[in-house]
Amino acid sequence: MCGIVGYIGKEQAAPILLDGLSKLEYRGYDSAGIAVYDGSEIKVVKSKGRLKVLNELTHDGASMPGTVGIGHTRWATHGAPSDTNAHPHFNKDESIVVVHNGIIENYLKLKKKLIERGYEFCSDTDTEVVVHLLDYYYHGNPLEAIAKVMHRVEGSYAFGIMFADFPGEIYAARKDSPLIVGSAGDGNLIASDVPAILRYTRSVYYIQNQEFVKLTADSMTFYNMDEEEITKTPTKIEWDINAAEKGGYEHFMLKEIYEQPGAVRDTFSPRLKDGKIVIEELGMTDEEILSVKKIHIVACGSAYHTGMTCKYVFEGLARIPVEVDLASEFRYRDPILEKDTLVVIISQSGETADSLAALREAKSKGSRVLAIVNVIGSSIAREADNVMYTWAGPEIAVATTKAYSTQLIAQYLLALKFAQVRETIGEKEFGEMLTDIERLPEQIEMLLGNKEKIQKFANRYLGARDVFFIGRGIDYAISMEASLKLKETSYIHSEACAAGELKHGTISLIEEGTLVSAVLTQDHLFPKMISNIVEVRTRGAFVMAVTNVGNVEIEKNVDYVIYIPKTNPYFTNSLAIIPLQLFAYYISIGRGCDVDKPRNLAKSVTVE
Ligand code: G6P
Repeated sequence: MCGIVGYIGKEQAAPILLDGLSKLEYRGYDSAGIAVYDGSEIKVVKSKGRLKVLNELTHDGASMPGTVGIGHTRWATHGAPSDTNAHPHFNKDESIVVVHNGIIENYLKLKKKLIERGYEFCSDTDTEVVVHLLDYYYHGNPLEAIAKVMHRVEGSYAFGIMFADFPGEIYAARKDSPLIVGSAGDGNLIASDVPAILRYTRSVYYIQNQEFVKLTADSMTFYNMDEEEITKTPTKIEWDINAAEKGGYEHFMLKEIYEQPGAVRDTFSPRLKDGKIVIEELGMTDEEILSVKKIHIVACGSAYHTGMTCKYVFEGLARIPVEVDLASEFRYRDPILEKDTLVVIISQSGETADSLAALREAKSKGSRVLAIVNVIGSSIAREADNVMYTWAGPEIAVATTKAYSTQLIAQYLLALKFAQVRETIGEKEFGEMLTDIERLPEQIEMLLGNKEKIQKFANRYLGARDVFFIGRGIDYAISMEASLKLKETSYIHSEACAAGELKHGTISLIEEGTLVSAVLTQDHLFPKMISNIVEVRTRGAFVMAVTNVGNVEIEKNVDYVIYIPKTNPYFTNSLAIIPLQLFAYYISIGRGCDVDKPRNLAKSVTVE
C-alpha cells in the first residue's frame, strides 16, 4: 500500500526520494509526490499515475533542488486517485507538509471542527486533517504540535512531516503503520519499508507505536507521546541488496518463482539437526506442546491458503483439531479461544492490518500466539509471543510465490514437531518425511525446468473468460491458491471449487471449451476426482490436470497433464503449485498485464 521515504543530509534529496519510492512501487499505488525544501520554501510536485510521471515532471529530481525532503506513493482509500488527493499535503500557507500511510478513523469529526475554525480543505483525503491540525497546534514548537496531533487522531498512521520554519529537520511518527529510520553516512532517512533505504544503510531503527522521531542531517532523536526522549538500538538488516533487484529476470514474479528452491531450503535447513526438528524460536516445552488442545490458523490471502493446506497436515500428522480463519472474519466474530488453544498468525509482511488485529484479539483472550512471518521486526513479529521466521528474503511482486512456499515449509516442520512430541507418528515415518522435505528444493527445480511447456499451454488460453480450479482436500487448498494467482495477475475470472461441490452450482457455468484445472495429488481421492473430471468434460470443459508422476491412467480422462514428482501426500502442495504459478505468470504477461504490480492490489495491506 502507500509508501513513505524521507531524506535529510548533504546530497540532493529529490533523486534519493524518487529512487526510494521506486523500491516501494511493489507495494501498490496509484499516485505519487515529493516535497523538497529549496532553501527558501517547501516545493511540492505530485501526480496521479506511476512514478514515471513524477520523474518526468521533476526531470528525475533535477528540477527540485534541496537536501531535505519527503516523498510518498499513495494507494487510494479516502478519495479517488488524483493529483489533488496525492500526497504530500500542505497547510494553507504551505509552511507545513505531510505524507501519511494508514487511515485516520476520526477524520470526519476532526474535519468538521477544523472547518468551524476556518480551515479550508482541498482534497478528499483523511490525511489533510493532519496537516491542518498540525497547523492549529503549531506555535513554534514542532514536537509539541506533533504530540498533540498524535493524541487527537484515531486510527493508523505513519507520518513524514516538514516545517518550513525548521528546514534542517524532518519529523516522522507512527501508530500501527510501519516506519523505520536509517543513517546513511552523510544523511538520515525515514521509510515505511526496508527496500526503500537498503541501498543507503543496513542499520535501521524501528519506530514503535505512538513514538516519533526528529531527524537532522547528522542526528536522530526519538520521543514518546509525552515528548520525552527515548533510546533505541538499531537492527541490522541481513537482506542481500540484490535480492530486492530483478537480477536479469524480466519480472520480480518470475525471479521469485525461481528463488523458491533456495527459499524453501533456507527455511527448513537451519531447523533440521541430526535427524531432529529443532525450532528454538517456538519457545514451547514438550509439556506445553502436549497441552495444546486446538490450533487456530489465522491469515489473509495466500497465507490463508497455506493454512487451509496445513490444517490437513496438522490434523493428519499431529491429530490436533485445527480451525482456519480469514483474519478479517476472525477479528469480528468473537472467537471462542481457550487457554490451551494455540493461535498461529501467518503473514509475509507482518503488517497486514486484519492479521495484526486478529493477533491482538487472540492475545486479549489469553491465547498464546505464534507468528509465522517473513519480515523481521514487523508489527506481527514484535507483538506475537513467539515468531518463526520464513527465510524467503524480500518479496517484491505483489502476487506472492516464494513467501507462500516457505510458509508451507514452516507449517510442515511445526506439524511434524508436534506429531513427534505427541507420538502420533512413528520414528520411521518421521525420518521418511524429513527426507521428503529435504528433497523438495530439487523437485521444485525439476518442475521449473518445464517452463517452456507451460508457457506454450498458457498462450492458448490468453483469451479465456473463466477458469475453474477443482480439487479435494489438500488439492482444494492448492486450487484456491492457483485460482487467486491467476485472477490477481491476469484479471481473468477464476474460481476454486471443492470438486464435490461442483454439482451444487458451479457446474452450471461450464460450457464448451471452458478451461478446468484439476489437481489430483491425493491418491485416496483420485477415483472421486476422475468422476468430477468426467462430469465437467461431458459438458464441454477442456481439462488440464496436475497429478503425481505415475498416474498415467489420467491421460484417458483429461486433455493436458502436468506431472509432479513423488513426495509425501502431505507435501504435494509445495510441488503442484509451481506449474500453476508459472501458468498464471505466463497468462498475465501474454495478456500484457503489469504482472508485478496488478491493478488495485497492494503487497502489504496495512489498512482494513
Ligand atoms: C496481499 C498480497 C498477498 C498476501 C496477502 C496477505 O493481498 O498481495 O500476496 O497473501 O496480502 O499478506 P501477508 O503479508 O499478511 O502475508
